[in-house]
Amino acid sequence: MKFLPLFHIAITALLTSTPLFAQSINVSSPNGKIILTVEDGKGPSYSVTFNNQQTINRSRLGLAFKKAPAFDNSFIIQNSKKNSNNSTWQLPWGERKNVVDNHNELVVSFTSDRKLANHFKVRFRVFNDGIGFRYEVEKQPGLDKVSITDEATEFVINQYDKATAWWIPARGWNRYEYTYNTTPLTKVDRAHTPFTFKLANGTHLSIHEAALVDYAAMTINQQRDGTLKADLTPWSDGTLVKTETNFKSPWRTIQISKDAVGLLNSDLILNLNEPNKLGDVSWVEPGKYVGIWWGMHINENTWGSGDKHGATTSETLRYMDFAAKYNFKGVLVEGWNIGWDGSWFDNGDVFSFTQSYDDFDVKKVTDYGKSKNVRLVGHHETSGSVTNYRNQMSDAYDLYQQHGVTQIKTGYVADGGMIKRIDDQGIVRHEWHDSQFTIGEYLHSVTEAAKHKISINTHEPIKDTGLRRTYPNWISREGARGQEFNAWGNPPNPPEHTTILPFTRMLAGPMDFTPGIFDLSFNGLGDKSNRPQTTLAKQLALYVVLYSPIQMAADLPRNYEANLPAFQFILDVPTDWHESKAIAGEVGEYVVFARQERNGNDWFLGALTDEKAREVTISLEFLAKGKYYQAQIYRDGENAEWVNNPYEMIIENKEVSAKDSLTLKLATSGGTAIRFMALD
Ligand code: NOJ
Ligand code: CA
Repeated sequence: MKFLPLFHIAITALLTSTPLFAQSINVSSPNGKIILTVEDGKGPSYSVTFNNQQTINRSRLGLAFKKAPAFDNSFIIQNSKKNSNNSTWQLPWGERKNVVDNHNELVVSFTSDRKLANHFKVRFRVFNDGIGFRYEVEKQPGLDKVSITDEATEFVINQYDKATAWWIPARGWNRYEYTYNTTPLTKVDRAHTPFTFKLANGTHLSIHEAALVDYAAMTINQQRDGTLKADLTPWSDGTLVKTETNFKSPWRTIQISKDAVGLLNSDLILNLNEPNKLGDVSWVEPGKYVGIWWGMHINENTWGSGDKHGATTSETLRYMDFAAKYNFKGVLVEGWNIGWDGSWFDNGDVFSFTQSYDDFDVKKVTDYGKSKNVRLVGHHETSGSVTNYRNQMSDAYDLYQQHGVTQIKTGYVADGGMIKRIDDQGIVRHEWHDSQFTIGEYLHSVTEAAKHKISINTHEPIKDTGLRRTYPNWISREGARGQEFNAWGNPPNPPEHTTILPFTRMLAGPMDFTPGIFDLSFNGLGDKSNRPQTTLAKQLALYVVLYSPIQMAADLPRNYEANLPAFQFILDVPTDWHESKAIAGEVGEYVVFARQERNGNDWFLGALTDEKAREVTISLEFLAKGKYYQAQIYRDGENAEWVNNPYEMIIENKEVSAKDSLTLKLATSGGTAIRFMALD
C-alpha cells in the first residue's frame, strides 16, 4: 500500500459530513493500472499513477471568476460518490462500429465555509486508456451569470526532465496549421492539444479535452518546468468564458499508454461525449469525393472569375462524368459563388452564399449529377467573417438543400485572432478561432445544417473534441496542415508530418487531409520546395492511416487516368469501418493501421514512414481465423525513394491468412497500402 502522511485519511465510501482533516480518495481504472487520487489539504488537486509509477504529480484544480471569489485553496472535500460503467454503444459511421465504454467514476464535491460561491463538483472518469474530469458548477449565491477569468487546472508531469513532446504552438497566427515541433518537454511554451509526450520509461501520454461546447478551448502553457497549466483562449475583451450556472466545463483528458500505438487505439474522447442528439442520421453519408480544388492550389485554375475560373458549369459536368465513371459520391466545387475576385482572403464581407458566378449554373450541374447519381459537394468560404455567413446561412443551406446537396465544406481562412464579428451594438470585434464565441459559431453551422439534412466538413475549424458522437453530421474537419501545404506551403509538409499526425491531431477525430496526389512533380521533381515529399505508395497508404469518413481523391482526373493500376486502390478503399487497429508505430517515425470495412469482410492496411527507409514485420493475426485472403499489395519499388524516384511502385497479389506475417519494405518517406480481399 502507498505510504500516506499521518494527516491523510483514505476515504472510499460516501461521506456526508465535512471532515476536519485533509482527505485523499482513490479511483482506479477497470484493469487497475491507472490510479487517480483526489486530495484537498493544499487546495483541490489530483494526481495519477500508471503501472505503479507516479505519472502526474499533485496538480491543482480550480476556477476564478470576475465578480465572485475563486474556487481556490480554501476548498476541501465535502463528500464523494463512486459509480462504474461497462457498456457498448454504436457509431453510425466511424473507425469502428461498437465502442466499449468501461470506466470507474468518482464525483467529488468541494466546499468552502464562506457565503458566496462556495461549492463545486469535479467528475472524474478513469478508463483503461486514460482519465477525464470536468468541473460541474451549480447555481448558488454569488454565481449566477459568471465570467471565468482563469482555470487553475494543472498537469504536473513527473519525470518531465527526460520527456519528449510533439506539439504545435497555440495562439499563433496560423491557427493549427503548423509543422510539428519535436522537443524536450521543458522546451514547450504554449501548445495546442492534443498535446502528446513520452516519458523516459516509454509511457506515452496525450492531454486534450472532450465535448468542447459553449466554453473556450484549452491550450496548455508551461509554467515552471514540467508544470503545464490550462490556458483558455480569451474573448476579445479578455474574458475566458461567459456562462451561467448551472454549467459544466468540457472534459480535461489524459490518454495514457505503455507505448505509442496504445494511444491510437483509444476511444476515450468519444466515450466522454454525449450520445447522438440528432436521431435518425441515415442521411449522413460517408464516402469518397473528387473536386475542382487542387487546380486552384497549384495555380492551374482560379477561384475568382476569368480565363482560369475553375468552377464553371462545363468543368463541373466533366468532373461529374469522371465521378460517375469511377463511382465517387461527390464533386466538390470551390469558387462557384460571388466574392472571390481580388484577394479572397480579405473578402469575408462580400461573399455571397446564394449567388453564383455567371458561368456556374447550380441547377444544371445538380440536375446532371442526379442523372448520374453524383452529388454536388457544397462550399462556403467565409474568410473568417462569421456575421456575414450567419446572416445568409439559412438561405444558403436552403438553396443547397433544394438542389440535393447533402454535404458542405466550410472555410474560415483568417489569421489567428482575426475572426470578424459584428456585435449587438454594430461594433466590429476580432476573435480567436478557438474562443468560446467562435466555437459557438462552428456548432451553430452544424446544428443549422442538420435541420437541412446537410453534413459539415469544417476547414480552419476549432479542433475536434469528439462532438461527432453528439452531432454525427459534423462529418470531418481540417485543423492541421493538410495536403494543400504541399502545393504552396513554405516549407511543404516534411516526410515526418504524417507520422506525427496520427499520434497528435488524429487523436481528436477525423481529418479531411485530402490524400492521393499522383503527380508528385508538378513543379519538376527537383523542386523540393513545393511537392508532396512522399512516394506514390505513401499517398495511397494515407487513405488507411489518416481516418476520415469522407476522403478526397485530391488530384486532377488526368493524373488518375494516367495511372489506373495505382488508382484502383483509391477506388477500392472504403471510408467507413467495422473495426480499426493500430498495429505498430513510433511517433514521428512510422505507423501501421489495419481496418476492416463496414458491412464486409475485407481488411485494408496502411503503413508509412518518415524520411528513413525501414522494414516492418507485422503479423496478420487481425484477419479472421480460418479464412483466406488475396492481399493486393501496393508497395514502394526496390529503388524507390521520395526525392528522385517517388513513382516506382510494385503492385502484387499474395494469398495470405491470419497465420502469416508480412515484412513491409518502406522507402524513404514511403508507404504500403494493402487490400486483403476475403476469398470464400
Ligand atoms: C483553405 C482550405 O483548407 C482549402 O481546402 C480551400 O481550398 C481554401 N481554404 C479556399 O476555401
Ligand atoms: Ca486550410
